[in-house]
Amino acid sequence: MSGILIVIVLGVLQGSVLEFPVQTIATLLIGGERRDNKRAPCDRLTVILNYNLLATGKDDILECLEKMYKAYVGNLSPNVSAVLLSATNDEELKEYELQIRDKYRSLLYDDLYREGLAFARGEYELVDPIHLDNVWAMYIDVNRNVFLTDYLEEICDRYAREFMVVHRVSRVLRKCGQYQDLMLLSEGECKAYSYCDKRYYGRLAREPGEALFHTSEDVSNIIDRKFNYTLVLDSDTGVPRGGVFDMLRIAAAHPERGIIQPSIKLHCGPGDTLFMHLEAMRQNIYEPLTNAITALFKQSSYFGKALIKNKLYIDYVIGSKDDLIERVPVDVLSHETYEAALLKPLYAGSTFLLEEPSHNYVTWNIRERRWNRGEILLAMYFWKNAFGKPMRWLQKKLQRSKFNKTKVRTETKLDFVTSYIAHSALRHMFMKPALLLYIILQYFVHLRNRYASIIIVMFSVLVFPKFATCNRKNYKFVILETIASILQFTPEALVGCVRIWRALYANVSLNVKWVPQRAVEEDFKSSNPFLSSFKHLWGYSVFSVLVGVLFVIFLDYEGLLLVMLTTTAGLPVYAGLTSLTTDFKCCKPSSKLLQRVFRRRGILDKSAIANVVADSNMYSSIGNIYEPSLEESKIEHTALMPNMYTNYGFDDIAQLLNHKNTHKMESWSSDVESMIANSERYGQMLSLSSGRYSHSRRFDGREKHMS
Ligand SMILES: *[C@@H]1O[C@H](CO)[C@@H](O)[C@H](O)[C@H]1NC(C)=O
Ligand SMILES: *[C@@H]1O[C@H](CO)[C@@H](O)[C@H](O)[C@H]1NC(C)=O
Ligand SMILES: *[C@@H]1O[C@H](CO)[C@@H](O)[C@H](O)[C@H]1NC(C)=O
Repeated sequence: MSGILIVIVLGVLQGSVLEFPVQTIATLLIGGERRDNKRAPCDRLTVILNYNLLATGKDDILECLEKMYKAYVGNLSPNVSAVLLSATNDEELKEYELQIRDKYRSLLYDDLYREGLAFARGEYELVDPIHLDNVWAMYIDVNRNVFLTDYLEEICDRYAREFMVVHRVSRVLRKCGQYQDLMLLSEGECKAYSYCDKRYYGRLAREPGEALFHTSEDVSNIIDRKFNYTLVLDSDTGVPRGGVFDMLRIAAAHPERGIIQPSIKLHCGPGDTLFMHLEAMRQNIYEPLTNAITALFKQSSYFGKALIKNKLYIDYVIGSKDDLIERVPVDVLSHETYEAALLKPLYAGSTFLLEEPSHNYVTWNIRERRWNRGEILLAMYFWKNAFGKPMRWLQKKLQRSKFNKTKVRTETKLDFVTSYIAHSALRHMFMKPALLLYIILQYFVHLRNRYASIIIVMFSVLVFPKFATCNRKNYKFVILETIASILQFTPEALVGCVRIWRALYANVSLNVKWVPQRAVEEDFKSSNPFLSSFKHLWGYSVFSVLVGVLFVIFLDYEGLLLVMLTTTAGLPVYAGLTSLTTDFKCCKPSSKLLQRVFRRRGILDKSAIANVVADSNMYSSIGNIYEPSLEESKIEHTALMPNMYTNYGFDDIAQLLNHKNTHKMESWSSDVESMIANSERYGQMLSLSSGRYSHSRRFDGREKHMS
């Protein structure tokens, strides 16, 4: 009996594991290099940069608007607007969002004004080249005095007004609904018509005809603008300088594609935690696999942040007033799967968006759990009878009066490629219970080669893919990553199951209180990382030590089980170790890291706000420009400030502008900078892409910010 069972479990396990070697072989065959994308002129296309936020604190708002400002300033053009789409509840925070928006507007106004003056004087080297091309060049023939008196203020004002914040009324569909409503608004709709039908969505439906957004000047500014594209972004996504134009050029060459999916780079640098470096490394090492698979299928998944063509999206996903489509189920978290299934994203591996990896193991675990939850919801729709029905029944039992049945208006059929891509996260999720079951079962069954199959599994997941990606330049990182993966992913047999269980429970019961990621990050920063790790993970340690001891006392010595239990018991140590920063300092409040964090977040704190905005160097598009030479960045990386979003090679100008005595500001973007500087040296290795676990994530694309 148990013999049969173990054969089945092994089959499932090796089946789901098999895809790693297959992908590896595919990569070896067709090559894992980055494909270049076709481009076409894009000067007729308009785009709106759409940041999505549900703020729970001021930090969220500051971080998001800073990202948005950099994205906007680095891609300034008459055809690019930026809007923060906020679903924030708290009135005070909503007010704060508008306040910060205004600070940035005045900052932008001042900077542009200065640039305009420099432009009028013919001092073009003082003008940001991107702005020179897109903003100022068209006034080259205008008489200088006329320009100064009649044009300049109006130009500055116009660009400042395109930096917007709007507040959504409904929360339906969360983030996905946010940008759907934005697209409708841009098409001239200001009243809700989608997701209004109570027959389908029960209590979740919104009132037909209610306003999409709370009225404001910014909302009026967007109505009927008919933007061609929306660049959907999360609150923590960075857009490189000029990146928007590059994406638009690719979009212009592929007008039939509804989604252009740039690659996502995880960035980190000196002063970041070891865990972040490991995540970035992992993503790097597995990038060739992503490149190969997307090239093979000529399609990628949608990662939740990408360039979306409004027209196609509305036609295929939302529908019109008279012909509603509403493909995305109202309660689903992984809306990306549906959107990708319909719009078949084009993978634009030659462009990228930036993202920070999880700060430590604990926040990584929380994020995985959120993803698992989305995955389970998705499974309820894909296997409606086998899995959906029992789950709905359980929901009904547990939620009682709170339960309200919903269904989807238009079902989506997945073809083979799409479902292969769509289900890969689910496959990886199920590997974990299969692994646990296997470890337990093989204790009771006498196999001839009891360790053979587990060694095959480990080999195909951890070692074999590296044949396709390892080279002379990155082998050290590959070895490091492999060791870390063994420590991090062996406990997954147990930890992964607990995670799935909690995600299942969350879906069934609806009352979940999970610690927010940011709170955990703050916790790690403000106390000893080992203590924090232990605080969050002690349960696993205690459990595995207990079980391990009982086993050794009462039952046989069993190698595999003990290995798993030992690594699980050691998790807090692993989590603690990896949340040290790479210069091996704790993230104590006194440390450099916190100062950095303080500089970049706290700087805009209530008391400091007035100064900061006056001190335009901080976020200025032209201030603080400093080109790092590789040597310098090696020697004193902490003092560096060069930044993705500001100019290169302008250090003398910065001095001209009297910025020489500003301390060279260190910000996260300096990390990006050194990362990118390094990438020339280490080649493939540091130029970042997907990691195995994050790889599968990236690949089937889900970033489920539940905003
Ligand atoms: C913006 O779009 C208009 C047409 O919509 C075009 O004439 C103009 O050249 C574009 N400008 C830039 C900088 O792309
Ligand atoms: C769901 O909620 C709606 C509106 O409150 C109600 O009319 C409907 O009967 C509910 N359906 C179920 C199955 O409880
Ligand atoms: C872009 O949008 C404008 C309307 O704003 C429209 O006239 C034009 O055809 C669109 N271009 C493309 C390529 O879709």
